[in-house]
Amino acid sequence: MIPESLRQELQRRVAGAVTPREAAVDVMKELQRHYGWLSDEAAEEAAGLLGLSPLQVEELATFYEMIYRRPVGRNVIHACDSISCWAMGGETLLRHLEQQLGIEAGGTTRDGAFTLLPCPCLGNCGNGPTIMIGDRLFGPVSPEQAGILIHELQRHGAD
Ligand code: FES
Repeated sequence: MIPESLRQELQRRVAGAVTPREAAVDVMKELQRHYGWLSDEAAEEAAGLLGLSPLQVEELATFYEMIYRRPVGRNVIHACDSISCWAMGGETLLRHLEQQLGIEAGGTTRDGAFTLLPCPCLGNCGNGPTIMIGDRLFGPVSPEQAGILIHELQRHGAD
């Protein structure tokens, strides 16, 4: 259950949207921020807030890369695997991230700190290869820079 204050805030946003679908990503993201991922229960909660059916919410949720329908780590690293980033070494970067984290793309580290997800274009094509961690874009990112970023996040998590 989300706090009443968040419920009211989301109801306000839905009421201010032209259509419930317009507010759907916003609502799903807020619920995801609260729960860590969008579980079936959270998706139903979103449906209730939006006045949509759970199936309609499911369709929207599966369309957006940034909505997680299964548990993810505390830090989600999206690695762009579209053409511009690929041409600038995106695949090498992804392999390096896998190696550094000790997981395959799509996986989550054993300690739950990181999930690594390849994803389509992040809209930063001129600065590839691009990764996104949380809401922050990084690019161009060399394998060495990626290593430093991960190290910083690990250090921050341990503080
Ligand atoms: S191709 Fe990677 S950000 Fe667009």
